[in-house]
Amino acid sequence: MNDLFSLEGKVAVVTGGAGQLGGEIARGLAARGAEVASFDIAPTEEGDGVRGFQVDVTDRGAIEQATARLSRAPHVLVNAAALDSPPDAPAEEVGRFEDYPSESLDQVMQVNVKGTLLACQVIGARMAEAGRGSIVNVSSIYGMLSPVQELYDFRRAGGETFFKPVAYSVSKSALYNLTRYLATYWAKSGVRVNTLTLAGVWNDQPQEFLDAYTARMPLGRMADAQEVVGPVVFLASDASSYVTGANIVVDGGWSAW
Ligand SMILES: NC(=O)c1ccc[n+]([C@@H]2O[C@H](COP(=O)([O-])OP(=O)(O)OC[C@H]3O[C@@H](n4cnc5c(N)ncnc54)[C@H](O)[C@@H]3O)[C@@H](O)[C@H]2O)c1
Repeated sequence: MNDLFSLEGKVAVVTGGAGQLGGEIARGLAARGAEVASFDIAPTEEGDGVRGFQVDVTDRGAIEQATARLSRAPHVLVNAAALDSPPDAPAEEVGRFEDYPSESLDQVMQVNVKGTLLACQVIGARMAEAGRGSIVNVSSIYGMLSPVQELYDFRRAGGETFFKPVAYSVSKSALYNLTRYLATYWAKSGVRVNTLTLAGVWNDQPQEFLDAYTARMPLGRMADAQEVVGPVVFLASDASSYVTGANIVVDGGWSAW
């Protein structure tokens, strides 16, 4: 049964592997036996089985160069690189929808959508040539459902304007159909493509936000970063061999009511 989840002998690329969840995912895949490459603009914490490559995912050439340095065509690609605005984001990022800067939209779409698409283009193509592979596109509950703007009331208490910005939601929504498009496009080539939808992960957010968020959350708490590893191992491994084009929702029950 254990072998079903083994990643022994597999090569995995995790974009955003220097980040909170990307780092956890990279270490989690390595612990299951994968040789892991993190593609990130920031330096990755390297360790057992994890190697860092400085790659801007909006740059197709940079993805190609780093991929060419891997020992073999990747078996696994996890697209976790992204831009977001946390609950304590600076005021200029979190104004009214009517005033949302189009430059910010462009930046977020470049990384979250174009960056994911380019990584799929380059690495998915290698997978299809090799006749096997699993791609996991990391989305968010805020791409599946609207953000609950009331959770940020604490930011408005002193008269400040605060809205969770629209670009993140729009960009994360786009991943569902990128996933479905590629799942059918590469189905006969042995490449599976799925979305993993996550809700909020604990990362020392302001207490007022934590209180409001966890009150709305059926499980009554935010996710621990390590709790994203199991679903990624499932999607990356043979345990999910009949799963493609799907959306695996790991949200503590957020979308259940
Ligand atoms: N943390 C959460 O609560 C949460 C909830 C739902 C979904 N997610 C999703 O999980 C994924 C990981 O989130 P996280 O919380 O670890 O974020 P994070 O900000 O800690 O990590 C994101 C990483 O992406 C990298 N990055 C940004 N632009 C890049 C580029 N152009 N090229 C290469 N790398 C780039 C950053 O350097 C960073 O290391 C994201 O897709 C995010 O949307 C996170």
